[in-house]
Amino acid sequence: MALPPQVLNEQPTSGPLVDRFARAHTYVRVSVTDRCNYRCVYCLPATGVEWMARANLLTFEEIVRVVRCLASMGVTGVRLTGGEPTVRRGLPDLVRELAAIPGILDIAMTTNAHHLAKHAEALASAGLNRINVSLDTLDAERFVSLTRGGNVERVLAGIQAALEQGLTPVKINCVVVKGENEQDVLPLIEYFSQWPDAVQVRFIEKMPFGEDTYTTVPSATLRQRVQQTLQLERVSRIAGRGPSVNWRVASTGQTIGFISPMTEHFCEQCNRLRLQADGNLRTCLSRDDSPNLRDVLRAGMTDDALAALLREMVWGKVAGHEAHTGKQNFEGVMTQIGG
Ligand code: 5AD
Ligand code: SF4
Repeated sequence: MALPPQVLNEQPTSGPLVDRFARAHTYVRVSVTDRCNYRCVYCLPATGVEWMARANLLTFEEIVRVVRCLASMGVTGVRLTGGEPTVRRGLPDLVRELAAIPGILDIAMTTNAHHLAKHAEALASAGLNRINVSLDTLDAERFVSLTRGGNVERVLAGIQAALEQGLTPVKINCVVVKGENEQDVLPLIEYFSQWPDAVQVRFIEKMPFGEDTYTTVPSATLRQRVQQTLQLERVSRIAGRGPSVNWRVASTGQTIGFISPMTEHFCEQCNRLRLQADGNLRTCLSRDDSPNLRDVLRAGMTDDALAALLREMVWGKVAGHEAHTGKQNFEGVMTQIGG
């Protein structure tokens, strides 16, 4: 897949939130904090990241205002991310308010699940629909070293709690790093085969951020390795449902997926926006856009003006990232951008 061609010449002032490439934006990822209780090696450096000042974070009220405005232009899905979203106090309150916005049909969250056993019930009753869990290995020691101090037992307990609360499908995100957790691919599939209908494991190609020295393993290579042991059947791709290419494991009936930002370039179907915890809106993962929404909201912008600004920002969206060509590393760290 290539970068999409420009097909629209004039910015619409009503209807779906489209860019020049006629991509309608229906999904927003909202980072509620840049902080994380883990420090995954491919995500955060061991030291030297300065957290955003609390005063610079969007308040729940401000987040809700932006999402309400987006929903009025066709956004239907919200994903809460971080950093680690569960470290932000009062998160169920935000979920409740987002769930009450007309037009918002789906609220998901990406979490490391360390605190999830404690919060799953409150989040589910507030209106959270489902979760994705970052989990790169089931091996306790490798988990400690990949997350720099995490506890895999707590994560598994968090996943169990999420399943009990019906936060399904639970999607497990495993970023595969060459030489670090390649051997964990099959054990992850095997472990989660106990919930073939409720859990999907996805393997993600690591993207290069800043000065990281880790390399990824192409999805095609991983899949061929899995196929040496398990028979896989291709699941048809539903347009607009995210970048995962899914397969069914014949022997268990479970679905597994491969997300290939480096080798497959799925920008053509991009339907997402990213709202950072500090109010920066990223129309593309690879770009920082301005102005900062926190600043304009605090300067007293009206709802109409905000809607017009959001339209204009989406209209200015780039065709896609170029990390796969080696031309570009992503700027910033994932915990600030929100994944
Ligand atoms: N490349 C790919 N995925 C990453 N994530 C964090 N850093 C990277 C990276 N460099 C993933 C996490 C989480 C999601 C939000 O992003 O594993 O599941
Ligand atoms: Fe935290 Fe997720 Fe980044 Fe790991 S990948 S450090 S869990 S934000």
